[in-house]
Amino acid sequence: MGRRFFFLLLISIATTNGLQLSSGPVPTISLEHLDPTLPPAVPAGQLPKCSVVVLQQDFADTVGSPPASANYSHPRECPFPWTHVVLELSVSASDLQKDRVAAVWIDGAEVLRTTTPLPMAPGAFWSVRKDISRYAALLRRLGDPSYTAARGHGAISMMLENSNSPLPGVYSANVSLHFYRGGAVNVAAGAGAATHPNTRSLYHEPADIILPISNPDGYRGSGGFWFRIHNETHIQTASFALPSNAYRAVLELFVSYHGDDEFWYTNPLRTTYLSSSPSNLSGPRTNGGFRQIYANIDGKFVGGHIPIPVISPRSINPFFWSPVAAIGAFDMPSYDLDLTPFLGLLLDGRIHEIGFGIRDAQPYWLVSANLHVWVDLWSDTVHAGLVQYAVPPVKMNRNAEWRNQDGQSEIDAEGLWRFSGWVSSSRGNLTTTVRQKIKFKSQIEVQNRGAVTQVEVNNKARSMVEVALGHQTIGRAQMLMESPLQIQTTSVSAASGAVFKKARLFHQLLEAVSLSEGQAMTTTTLADRQDAEGSALMRGGEPIWGSGSTRSSYKYRDDNTCYLRAVNAGGGVIMSDTTSASCAADS
Ligand SMILES: *[C@@H]1O[C@H](CO)[C@@H](O)[C@H](O)[C@H]1NC(C)=O
Ligand SMILES: *[C@@H]1O[C@H](CO)[C@@H](O)[C@H](O)[C@H]1NC(C)=O
Ligand SMILES: *[C@@H]1O[C@H](CO)[C@@H](O)[C@H](O)[C@H]1NC(C)=O
Ligand SMILES: *[C@@H]1O[C@H](CO)[C@@H](O)[C@H](O)[C@H]1NC(C)=O
Ligand SMILES: *[C@@H]1O[C@H](CO)[C@@H](O)[C@H](O)[C@H]1NC(C)=O
Repeated sequence: MGRRFFFLLLISIATTNGLQLSSGPVPTISLEHLDPTLPPAVPAGQLPKCSVVVLQQDFADTVGSPPASANYSHPRECPFPWTHVVLELSVSASDLQKDRVAAVWIDGAEVLRTTTPLPMAPGAFWSVRKDISRYAALLRRLGDPSYTAARGHGAISMMLENSNSPLPGVYSANVSLHFYRGGAVNVAAGAGAATHPNTRSLYHEPADIILPISNPDGYRGSGGFWFRIHNETHIQTASFALPSNAYRAVLELFVSYHGDDEFWYTNPLRTTYLSSSPSNLSGPRTNGGFRQIYANIDGKFVGGHIPIPVISPRSINPFFWSPVAAIGAFDMPSYDLDLTPFLGLLLDGRIHEIGFGIRDAQPYWLVSANLHVWVDLWSDTVHAGLVQYAVPPVKMNRNAEWRNQDGQSEIDAEGLWRFSGWVSSSRGNLTTTVRQKIKFKSQIEVQNRGAVTQVEVNNKARSMVEVALGHQTIGRAQMLMESPLQIQTTSVSAASGAVFKKARLFHQLLEAVSLSEGQAMTTTTLADRQDAEGSALMRGGEPIWGSGSTRSSYKYRDDNTCYLRAVNAGGGVIMSDTTSASCAADS
C-alpha cells in the first residue's frame, strides 16, 4: 500500500466530525470543559454555610512572576469545625492559548495542582472542585484570630505561568471556598467518605498540623512555592522541625512534569543509554519511560512513587481532550508516604532536612509537599524508635534494540521496601509497619521509519500500613493501585512541514483500598477509564485541524454506595453523559 493512498484514507476517515481551531465568534465546539469523573462536590440540596471568593486574578503575561496572593480573613459566621470544605477554581480563557500548569496554596501549602485544557476557541471555561477537608488544619489556623493577629494575614496564592506571545489568550480565575456543616447528603458519600469519593484517604481524622514543605521564597520568588528538579542527581531540600508530641506523620507529594519530561511515559530507551558509544539518536527524551519520585530525610530514603501519567492536553491528539479532561488533569493526584516509623529520628526538637529527587529525570519537574502531622494533646513528649529499615535496590531491567529510528525498548522495575517503628504516646506503645511494593513495565515499539509507534506502560503499586499493639494488629490500611496505558500512533508527513497523526489510546486508573480496625472492615474501589481515537494535523507541535472521540467511564464503589458515570465525547462536544447511583446498571 503506497503512502499516498494511506494518507488519503486517513483524510477521508478524519473529515467526519473534523474540528477546525477557531478564533471566530461562533465555535461549533463546546466552550465548557469538564472532568468526566466525580459526582458534584457541591451536592444539590446541600447549601454551604458560607461561600467566600478568596482570590480573583487574570493571568496574561506571567512567566517568571511570583504567584498571585490575596490576604484571607475567615468569615466569623463559619467557625471550625466543618463537615467538609470544598475548594472551587473556575477559570475562563479569553482566546486561544496553550495549556498551562497551575496550583493553589494556602499559606504556602499546596492544596491543588491542576492543568488547564487547551482552549480551542475564545471563551473556553471550566471549573475544578476539590474536597479539601483534609487540609482543615490550614483553614482552621487562618480562622484563628490569634494566628491572623500575629501575622496580620493568612494568604491564598495561585500560580499560572502564561504568555501572550504568540497566542493571545488570558486566563481569568476565581478561587472560592465553600464551608459545609451538617450531615453529608451526597449519593456517593458513604460513611466516613468525603463529598468526593476518594479512595486515597487512609485516615479518618485530618491532621492537626500541616507543614508546607515548599520553597520558602514562594511569595516573592519567580518559581513560586515549587521546587524545580532538573535531573536525576538534582535533589531539592527543605528544613522542618516536628513538635515533640507528634504521633503520626504523612508526607504528601505533588508533582508535575514539563519541558523534556512532559511526556516521559512515552520516551523510548535508546541504545546509547545502555552503551557509552555516542550516536545522534541520543539526547533528551530518549532515556526510557521510567520515573520515580522519592523523598529522603537527613539523606535517608523514606519512600517513593512512580507517578500516574497524567496526559497533557496537547499530547497524543489534542482533540481527545476537548471538552473532556484526561484522567487526573484537573486535580492531579498527590502521593502519600507514611513517615510514622521514622518519628524516632525526628522527635528531638531539632531541625531536619527533607530532600526530593526524581529517578531518571530530565528537565524539569515541579515538586512541593505537605507534611501532615497528628499530635498527642495529652502528652508533652512522645517517644519513638525505628525498628526496621529495609530498602533493597529497585531491580531494574533495561533492554533496547534499535536500527536507526525503528526498534523497540523495554524497562522493567520491581521494588519492595519495609519500615517499622514504635511510637509510645497516650494511645499506647504502637508499632507502625509500612510496606510498599512497586512493579513497573514500559514497552515502546517504533516501526516504518518512525511512522508507527506503540507505547505500553503498566504501573502497579501496593502499599500497606499496619498498626500493632504488642503482637496484636489493631488496624491495617491496604492500597492497591494499577494504571495501564496504551498508545498507538501513526504519523504521515503532510504539506508544508505538517504531520498528519492518527492515534488511539487506552488509559485506566484502578484503586482499591481496604481499611480494617478491630472487627470492622471497609473496602472502596475506583475504576476510571478512558478510550480515545482520532486524528490530527499538527505543525510545530501545535494542532491545526483534527478530530477525536473519547469514551470515559468512572466507577466508584464502597460498602454502601456506588457511583457510575459514563461520558462520550466526539467532535468537540459531549454526546452523552449518564450517571447512576446503582451498580446494577453496570454489567
Ligand atoms: C496582606 O497583608 C499584609 C500585612 O497586613 C500586607 O503587607 C500585604 O500587602 C497584604 N497583601 C495583599 C495582597 O493585600
Ligand atoms: C469570577 O467572578 C466574577 C464575579 O465576581 C464573574 O463575573 C466572573 O465571570 C467569574 N469568572 C469565572 C472564570 O468564573
Ligand atoms: C543537574 O542539575 C543541577 C541543577 O540544575 C546542575 O547543577 C547539575 O550540573 C546537573 N547535573 C547533570 C549531570 O546534568
Ligand atoms: C544521524 O545519523 C543519520 C544516519 O544514521 C545521518 O543520516 C544523519 O546525518 C545524522 N545526523 C547528524 C546530525 O549527525
Ligand atoms: C515500645 O515497644 C518497643 C517494642 O515493641 C520497645 O522496644 C520500646 O522500648 C517500647 N517503648 C516504650 C517507651 O515503652
